[in-house]
Amino acid sequence: MSEQQKSSNVVWHEGEVNRADREAKNGHKGVVLWFTGLSGSGKSTLSHAVENKLFQMGVHTTVLDGDNVRHGLCGDLGFSDVARRENIRRVGEVSKLFVDAGIVVLTAFISPFREDRQVVRKLHQAGDFIEIYCAASLETCESRDVKGLYKRARQGEIKNFTGISSPYEVPEKAEITVDTGSLSLDESVQQVMHYLYANGIVIK
Ligand code: ADX
Repeated sequence: MSEQQKSSNVVWHEGEVNRADREAKNGHKGVVLWFTGLSGSGKSTLSHAVENKLFQMGVHTTVLDGDNVRHGLCGDLGFSDVARRENIRRVGEVSKLFVDAGIVVLTAFISPFREDRQVVRKLHQAGDFIEIYCAASLETCESRDVKGLYKRARQGEIKNFTGISSPYEVPEKAEITVDTGSLSLDESVQQVMHYLYANGIVIK
């Protein structure tokens, strides 16, 4: 249970329909594909492309994307280390709800801190959390600068910017490392799909 747990006198209610029932009906497991990497490393693009591929195959999917979730559920959070930890904690909990619903949930968050990603990994059952490192380098992400944020961060207009003035801790044991700096989108999708087939998460 999280250290922030303040609710008392609450009792877990077990439903009549369980995860196994939902997975059997869906015809596949619920898992989380956790994309992590620098801003501009291709997390959103790749997660949506993988979702599209899975969706076409009849898999039940959803994407939680940092920029979108920060408009709602996490709209109250900034980019301090503490705020990022809370961002990832909330998304971790939401991803668990989706996994329990028998859905393949794809998350696209910088999630820069190893410890925070580890907390989410531990929240899930073994095998349910698949960490996918989008390994485009800072140089590549900065040269792309799709949103113009790196330039503003270099000019000091944006504080605590990941890779510039806030750290990114590279995963040590990601299930999949995708070289999104040099692979095409199709090749990157294929690499992720290959893992999902090879590990029986989805069936061709
Ligand atoms: S995380 O660090 O808490 O995981 P998250 O993925 O939700 O970050 O949000 C990252 C997105 O917010 C970036 O893609 C970028 O568009 C925007 N952003 C705004 N300020 C910052 C910042 N200081 N550092 C990184 N990203 C930022």
